[in-house]
Amino acid sequence: MPAVVLIGAQWGDEGKGKATDLLGSRVDYVVKFNGGNNAGHTVVVGDEKYALHLLPSGILTEGVTPVISNGVVVDIEVLFHELEALSARGVDVSKLLVSANAHVITHYHRTIDKVTERFLGKRQIGTTGRGIGPAYADKINRVGIRIQDLFDESILRQKVEGALDAKNHLLLKVFNRRAISADEVVADLLQYAERLRPMVADTALELHQALESGKTVLFEGGQATMLDVDHGTYPFVTSSNATSGGAVTGSGIAPNRIDRVIAVVKAYTTRVGAGPFPTELFDESGEFLRSKGFEFGTTTGRPRRCGWYDAPIARYTARINGVTDFVLTKLDVLTGLKTIPVCVAYEVDGRRVDEVPVSQSDFHHAKPIYEEFPGWDEDITGARSFEDLPKNAQDYVLALEVMSGSRISAIGVGPDREAVVVRHDLLN
Ligand code: GDP
Ligand code: IMO
Ligand code: MG
Repeated sequence: MPAVVLIGAQWGDEGKGKATDLLGSRVDYVVKFNGGNNAGHTVVVGDEKYALHLLPSGILTEGVTPVISNGVVVDIEVLFHELEALSARGVDVSKLLVSANAHVITHYHRTIDKVTERFLGKRQIGTTGRGIGPAYADKINRVGIRIQDLFDESILRQKVEGALDAKNHLLLKVFNRRAISADEVVADLLQYAERLRPMVADTALELHQALESGKTVLFEGGQATMLDVDHGTYPFVTSSNATSGGAVTGSGIAPNRIDRVIAVVKAYTTRVGAGPFPTELFDESGEFLRSKGFEFGTTTGRPRRCGWYDAPIARYTARINGVTDFVLTKLDVLTGLKTIPVCVAYEVDGRRVDEVPVSQSDFHHAKPIYEEFPGWDEDITGARSFEDLPKNAQDYVLALEVMSGSRISAIGVGPDREAVVVRHDLLN
């Protein structure tokens, strides 16, 4: 099973980091193909807890080659900071490869991200403030800086000056901010060039050759389907393709190479930042999920909005991504609830709607139609086979499986690396 894509099914933070780590020892390459340090993946290994932002979670597994491919936007300062922090904890980071075509997040992208959000006021997206949107905007606008530009000072200078031209007018005249000096940006980027050089590669070629020689490559998505710039709840999305198609354009691997698409889905739903969220809870049930699931952002520390499982979203994810397997995470968080509501459809302006509505206003107004499932009280964190789960937990999983459009192949029952029930092998 050589090429496997792993993506988020909802609005992020489903536990993709843990799922990648679960497969880590059986894969040769782990590729981050979209987003940047807006991601936050917590991986718990025994007593050690790692928080990864820019680096793919596969970096924690010995022997794996981690790859940052062309679809990623790279904040180089953050990159070295993360590498140093991992090295200091004994993680071997020497194999990391970075695409020469990946774009760079600079000081001006971070500044513009923050001032734009402030300017939007009530209409703000609630971005992570890491410069992600402005860096992708420059890429699409053809004024981006790529990793390879760091190795040609005069080209770099021309490009930075070009990119800053219009931005400085905007900063000065619209946002009432100081202009940013091209010299400072260039000097800032150049200081990393020599340290970066040995990691820089034609990662599309490297991955192609790896697949040709029978190696296993895992493409690890950041963010999630409902945050995808094309298929998510636009404009309340991130600025990249977090769906399985993003693994193709974001890495240079052809679509017909992909053998399996794994979607990680939480047993309930969370979201950080603004935007529609039909099953969001504003009562003590929401507080229960937040405190029991420890739903606070790994990147920004913001409390996550919490709600019940939304089956139409899972079906949408299954369709858009071609999901072959779901990994259902955080089932243990639901322990102790008398009944567990699951959204099976929506009511929009008095009509029943079974799938995610194409109209954004309809989705904003969609009211969940719930079906209730009986809960369980038994501690399930020690379960290692499906039969170990209480009957009601088994029935909840089986009901979600029927509603969600693909089989549920693994179930998370706790944050630890070992806390998982595998029903079907994810790689064979
Ligand atoms: P990611 O961004 O998709 O990688 O997810 P995050 O790391 O941001 O958030 C998922 C959180 O849930 C992390 O703190 C994980 O340690 C934790 N987690 C993952 N799987 C499980 C699970 O099955 N049960 C519990 N209780 N926690 C889990
Ligand atoms: P992982 O990979 C959850 C959200 C932000 C905001 C919107 C746009 O950990 O699942 P951006 O900074 O990307 O321009 O912000 O997207 N967001 C995430 N939410 N998990 C993430 O990543 C996210 N990355 C971005 O909160 O609403
Ligand atoms: Mg996260």
